[in-house]
Amino acid sequence: MELRDIFESNLIFPRVLEDELNERLRKGIHKKVISGEQWFRTPNNWYDMPAYINPYKGVYDELPILYEHHRELKGYLDQTLKVFWGVGIADSECVPVRWDLQKNHYGEINAIDVIDYFLEGFIISLRNLTKEYPLSKIMFVGNNTLFETIRKENVKPTNTKYQKATHICFGNTIGNFDQEEIFQIFNRNIDQDDFLLLGYQLNKDPGKILSMYVDNTRFERLVLDPIDRGRMLPIIAKIARHMKGLKISWKYNYENDYVEAWLGDILVFRSKKYDPIVLSDFARQYHFESLKNYIFADCGVGLFQKI
Ligand SMILES: C[S@@+](CC[C@H](N)C(=O)[O-])C[C@H]1O[C@@H](n2cnc3c(N)ncnc32)[C@H](O)[C@@H]1O
Repeated sequence: MELRDIFESNLIFPRVLEDELNERLRKGIHKKVISGEQWFRTPNNWYDMPAYINPYKGVYDELPILYEHHRELKGYLDQTLKVFWGVGIADSECVPVRWDLQKNHYGEINAIDVIDYFLEGFIISLRNLTKEYPLSKIMFVGNNTLFETIRKENVKPTNTKYQKATHICFGNTIGNFDQEEIFQIFNRNIDQDDFLLLGYQLNKDPGKILSMYVDNTRFERLVLDPIDRGRMLPIIAKIARHMKGLKISWKYNYENDYVEAWLGDILVFRSKKYDPIVLSDFARQYHFESLKNYIFADCGVGLFQKI
């Protein structure tokens, strides 16, 4: 797998994902837990939720953290391949790329996302960035695949100029996963000495956080669309149909700090909130040493190194 000039837009489509995602939805409904990738299958629902409409919010609070601590962060991240785990609207993702173009007029990017529409949007943003910094060049590869199934040889391109990579997962994406699962994915795909930069949402004031989800019609759309999709598919229509008419019930799970949305007995959405020290201790179990932690408002950005 090779990086190519961003203007050649090197997107890798290892499989046709639609069937695989429908199968995951079927299994999810059967096991009564719908997994995170399903919420982004109607990407416009996500683009529809700028700034404070989005109770994740971390998406926007990451930006001041990155700007405030840019000197220190640049010291670590300079001259590294950037591997993005999830790109979404890609606002904060563009910031470390900008740093590379400002200083080196060169950047290397591997973007991994299950939704090709987000990858295409990221490519457009990156091309625009090269126009802000004339004479700069971005080498790019996009992996349109699930984190769960990516192969390690597709994480580090063969023609990278750099010794090290920085793996970046912003927007509290880690919170959508079972924690062991996401850290196992990082552990098996990240090399020793590489950096891991995580954006996450804090667990302070759970009542306030929860209230941002409740009666939030835009967020409800994001959460319910996978179920509507399920009703359209003959193979799951029967199971999904009985959920029609049920109302979402939101809850803060104090045992594990997940905000949860339930439809009947099916967990249709979850988003974990974090205590920075607990997160650092947990990451260490998967061989990631915490180097730095920055906090702003309800958001944290943690820099880890694989040991
Ligand atoms: C919460 S968004 C955060 C991304 C970005 N920082 C933002 O704020 O828009 C999560 C992103 O990860 C992608 N994603 C979620 N689960 C995934 C999975 N299992 N495999 C690959 N991509 C996934 C989604 O498509 C989405 O682009």
